[in-house]
Amino acid sequence: MSQRTPDHEIDPQFTSRWSPRAFTGEPIDEATLLRFLEAARWAPSGFNAQPWRFVWGRAGTPAWGPIFETLSAYNQLWAQRASALVVVLSQHRWVPPGKTELQDNTTHAFDAGAAWGHLALQASLSGWHTHGMGGFDHAQARSNLGIPDTFTTHIVIAIGRVGDKSVLPDSLQARETPSQRLPLAALASEGRFSITD
Ligand SMILES: Cc1cc2nc3c(=O)[nH]c(=O)nc-3n(C[C@H](O)[C@H](O)[C@H](O)COP(=O)(O)O)c2cc1C
Repeated sequence: MSQRTPDHEIDPQFTSRWSPRAFTGEPIDEATLLRFLEAARWAPSGFNAQPWRFVWGRAGTPAWGPIFETLSAYNQLWAQRASALVVVLSQHRWVPPGKTELQDNTTHAFDAGAAWGHLALQASLSGWHTHGMGGFDHAQARSNLGIPDTFTTHIVIAIGRVGDKSVLPDSLQARETPSQRLPLAALASEGRFSITD
């Protein structure tokens, strides 16, 4: 398991969160899942519009199949052992307070990203793991889950307890370790864009 060492001192929750693929498949109770969604609920958003929405399905319940079948074959290979799947959506057209007409919410995707971050950190702090997946059929998710046109589908999150990597095919076992990050100097500069690759 590779070590994660931050360049600057931060709370360990940030480096402890990572996205495994080897899940145990054990059941998750609804109260636990709702705690993770509750953390997402408290994310900041433009105009406090809270454009994020979530549709979840727990393994072994009727809600699982319609989400699971939208995943790419690659993601199905490992996400089959997740305890729950959560689809993250956001409302890109809304009627802001004081207005009467639908208009674009220009920060809906950014806001939904913040909410997913909250969810992932709360799950990690609670001894669970999350793994976001962009690899799913968005049109099929829209139709399977009855998602209206004013909402954008973003990711499906696999949630589970981390298990032994031996449950994975060899190719995935090799990747089953926390990843590293670009140096901060490659990401942030003072005053003017002067960031090098
Ligand atoms: C928006 C988004 C889409 C992703 N899509 C997939 C995916 O379809 N399949 C997959 O195996 N991992 C997917 N990942 C996981 C990323 O590869 C992973 O988060 C990244 O390598 C950083 O690793 P860490 O989460 O362990 O820190 C996705 C992550 C995000 C945030």
